[in-house]
Amino acid sequence: MENFDWKNLPFGYVKTNYNVRCYFRNDKWGELEVSSSEKIDIHMAATCLHYGQEAFEGMKAYMGKDGKIRLFRWQENAKRMQRSADGIFMARVPEDLFKEAIVKTVLLNKEFIPPHGTGAALYIRPLLFGSGAQIGVKPAKEYMFIVFVTPVGPYFKEGFNPVKIAIVKDSDRAAPLGTGHIKVGGNYAASLYGVTKAVKAGYGSPMYLDAKEKRYIDEIGAANFFGIKNNTYITPKSSSILPSITNKSIMAIAEDMGFKVEQRPVSIDELDTFEEVGACGTAAIIAPIGEIYDMDTGKKYNYCKNGKPGPVSTAIYNRLQEIQFGDEPDKFNWIEIIG
Ligand code: PLP
Ligand code: COI
Repeated sequence: MENFDWKNLPFGYVKTNYNVRCYFRNDKWGELEVSSSEKIDIHMAATCLHYGQEAFEGMKAYMGKDGKIRLFRWQENAKRMQRSADGIFMARVPEDLFKEAIVKTVLLNKEFIPPHGTGAALYIRPLLFGSGAQIGVKPAKEYMFIVFVTPVGPYFKEGFNPVKIAIVKDSDRAAPLGTGHIKVGGNYAASLYGVTKAVKAGYGSPMYLDAKEKRYIDEIGAANFFGIKNNTYITPKSSSILPSITNKSIMAIAEDMGFKVEQRPVSIDELDTFEEVGACGTAAIIAPIGEIYDMDTGKKYNYCKNGKPGPVSTAIYNRLQEIQFGDEPDKFNWIEIIG
């Protein structure tokens, strides 16, 4: 891919050569199939289309300086996809099938892995959905599992630079006992109101508060929230947020760097007290936040006053990326080299 502008790649879809597919029929998974088509042929009464029986994952393959391809904590994504499947009564994808599918898809599309040093990576999107026909509201009997990949640059156009976030209170992404803790499509449909409202007002993403009291911070669009003060890394604990693998990794790194780590309810009243705040996830890695705007009260919280990400966020971001790209030893045993 000589003519690819890797450094200016957005977070978007780029056609690659192959994807892999597998069907669950008669209570068992079949063989993995390789396809070069971007299309799928499914029944018009498939449960994914009517009742949202769908879950997905998002992870990245990184190219090292040594030319080796690295996966980051893929087992965590495999497990989360199983929790998502359980949550909406779909067939689970066994861990070995999940691994075989992602490794195969990455290796078949090797030429699309962004070179080391460009900051870009190959985004892996595993997808599981009810493909069997039903008209009553009940789980399908047949499922389809697909993995495709696409090379991506930064999720926020700012890259590792401060983004602006807007607090949206007139819509909820997930309910306390709903499906916010798993990665199912319905959550993202429900988030589009907030996303669109925030973007229209000139902000990068919405911040969602807890659905019950609108007092505690849940998530930032498709990323977890964190705040830093007094040498402590603080991130919300809530039943309606997605347990982020990036956040879990950052907590381990922060602890290793000598910070205290707290996972607890975080009230918006605390926003004034943080030295640094940010959003984290596979797509964004870390997006430092420069401004949080409360769309209802008009109040603005400002960070990164010199226009630059804070020192703690920067140190954590660098360390995580160095591990992911293989520039520093894999002390936590998070990396698997696949080629
Ligand atoms: N929160 C939501 C709602 C997400 O969609 C994601 C992305 O998967 C995250 C947080 C970050 O999770 P992870 O770090 O596992 O990508
Ligand atoms: C993430 O990787 O953090 C995401 O949420 C990806 C998004 C495109 C769903």
